[in-house]
Amino acid sequence: MAETIRIENATLPAEGHSVRVSANGTPVAVFLVGGTLYGLDARCTHAGGPLDRGSLAGKEVTCPLHHSVFDVSDGRVVHGPATRPVTAYRVRVEGTTLVLEHD
Ligand code: FES
Repeated sequence: MAETIRIENATLPAEGHSVRVSANGTPVAVFLVGGTLYGLDARCTHAGGPLDRGSLAGKEVTCPLHHSVFDVSDGRVVHGPATRPVTAYRVRVEGTTLVLEHD
């Protein structure tokens, strides 16, 4: 079932960067790429590395621990060692509220 999380007064990332927010206790990395916001569970599915601290190249983020690469638009693994995708969130801004949704 789809879940919607609203975060009041959240700080938004600068273009090409990310911020970490808490979505009901789940850390989510929010990225801004080409003017579009994307959200991923911030915990790498390989060993929990912090994806919000990864390096971003286009829509691909590289985990800082063992360099798995994920597509920020859908959470899929571009290459391992991770084998499982991370949860992706649809992100939008309503006034001063950051809205995250995932299926
Ligand atoms: S924890 Fe991310 S690649 Fe290992």
